[in-house]
Amino acid sequence: MRAKTSNKILLEWVDHWTGVLGPDAVRWCDGTEAEYDALATGMVASGTFQRLNDDLRPNSYLALSDPEDVARVEDRTFIATKDPLDAGPTNNWRDPSELKAEMTGHFRGAMAGRTMYVVPFSMGPLGSPIAHIGVQVTDSPYVVAGMRTMTRMGRPVLDALGEGDFVPCVHSVGAPLVDGAGDVPWPCDPDHRYIAHFPETREIWSYGSSYGGNALLGKKCFALRIASTMAHEEGWLAEHMLILAATPPGGERRYVAAAFPSACGKTNMAMMVPTLPGWTVETIGDDIAWMKFGDDGRLYAINPEAGFFGVAPGTSEASNHNAMATLHANAIFTNVARTDDGDVWWEGMTDEPPEHLTDWRGDSWTPDNGSMAAHPNARFTVPASQCPSIAPEWEDPAGVPISAILFGGRRATNVPLVTEARDWAHGVFLGSIMSSEKTAAASGQTGGVRFDPFAMLPFMGYNVGDYFAHWLEVGARADANRLPKLFWVNWFRRDGDRSFLWPGFGDNCRVLDWVLQRVDGSGDAVETPIGLVPTVDAIDRTGIHVDDADMEQLLDVEPAAWEAELALIEEHYSGLGERLPVELRHQLDDLRDRLHA
Ligand code: OXD
Ligand code: MN
Repeated sequence: MRAKTSNKILLEWVDHWTGVLGPDAVRWCDGTEAEYDALATGMVASGTFQRLNDDLRPNSYLALSDPEDVARVEDRTFIATKDPLDAGPTNNWRDPSELKAEMTGHFRGAMAGRTMYVVPFSMGPLGSPIAHIGVQVTDSPYVVAGMRTMTRMGRPVLDALGEGDFVPCVHSVGAPLVDGAGDVPWPCDPDHRYIAHFPETREIWSYGSSYGGNALLGKKCFALRIASTMAHEEGWLAEHMLILAATPPGGERRYVAAAFPSACGKTNMAMMVPTLPGWTVETIGDDIAWMKFGDDGRLYAINPEAGFFGVAPGTSEASNHNAMATLHANAIFTNVARTDDGDVWWEGMTDEPPEHLTDWRGDSWTPDNGSMAAHPNARFTVPASQCPSIAPEWEDPAGVPISAILFGGRRATNVPLVTEARDWAHGVFLGSIMSSEKTAAASGQTGGVRFDPFAMLPFMGYNVGDYFAHWLEVGARADANRLPKLFWVNWFRRDGDRSFLWPGFGDNCRVLDWVLQRVDGSGDAVETPIGLVPTVDAIDRTGIHVDDADMEQLLDVEPAAWEAELALIEEHYSGLGERLPVELRHQLDDLRDRLHA
């Protein structure tokens, strides 16, 4: 397709980058199925895609990446602001003009021998007042195919854009084909990767990688890092959160958002099959929530994405039936293993592995190989509309009103199954101390804890202290009665250093049930130094094997253990720099006082 836009800024920007990148051809993507099919056919011919068995997995493909290009590269992710303090202590700061000069050196001629695709995309339903538009140029057909699944992409976006503003996103794999050089299935430049954000001019530049969040620039780069800075300036929230709709039997339909760090079960929770009779949980989004205030003073959320880019290993009928059903067709799998009959497999998909596979490196694999057949960060890319649990209103341009926000970590110790914040500011404090630990420490020991405030540590586009201050301000400006209630959850508490105390998965609806009761002003709770936890009987345990003693452990706030936790929080806060709001220091003092009372 040729340019079907008269947007002068866009046309000039494309011209500028055509000059710098030097592609052989420029193609404006229309987002049609025919275009997707043609790109896929081209990638099968070039070896980037393998078509899977159409009887088993219709219209689906497998891509195996370069073994050096398998995940987001946080150490090569930059926030470039004039003042280093505006990027803050948790981001890799670079000076914008220096970084641009350095990257331009790499970008110059980077698309020689390749086609430059112009990809207009909308984050959020087209025309939604909560949505925003971006345009990405890229020389990777794999990225174009991914963007078509993950965003609303193509011609209708240009129509919606008109003469309006867009976030410009430049991406190159960094592998020019000069002097007739042959291509490889997964071109990249792993030694010179840059994932660069320029929040002051709202630009994204990415070089050298084709993997996920490094290259599908609508996702982490735009919808979180740049959008969080837009939200900061404009008074809204761009967050690393799933969104779900929950309807108890005979009860009101409510919307809940939940922040968990990467690979901690957001997709599973968003697609939960609830075990409480009569309950339904439906999916709005599994990774990102954009929330703006409506005229009624409530926070309305959209899922800015159109697809799921989920971690494959561990996904199974038992852990996530709805994800498995979503993946029945029209999927792109990256770095999973291939079965001999042309389907896919990954660790955890079945109890017993197949007898023979081709692994993610393309080598022959049998169970006694001892290595992983799929890469631990292997992914699926699939349209959200195919999900059996997708909520009918998931594309409502108005968004859905959020009643509760959950902050979750993965803690073997100390953190109760669920804690309700006393008020918004206290909830912001709980969000700021979210953490996970890698290993199950013995009760009371809290070694190896990694703090990931709001699950946004790798995704805040600005100073972490300013980010907390923004959350506090959002609450201070709003009508407290209309704000969502804030909760801290932990499905991962263990019995000493043994088994998990809580069954998790579909049984997490029992926690949701209590959360929604609290939203409605019912549900029994007791005060603890860290907030309100359910009474032992408040959570419905019919049909599960969690006895009173387990429940007491799940809800316990042990003063000695929290003394040790206080020291960790102090240390965490001391790393967050001079812009940490004093309000959060007061919250910490308040916690200390309550523990010592
Ligand atoms: C992540 C993801 O890394 O969603 O958080 O891909
Ligand atoms: Mn994520």
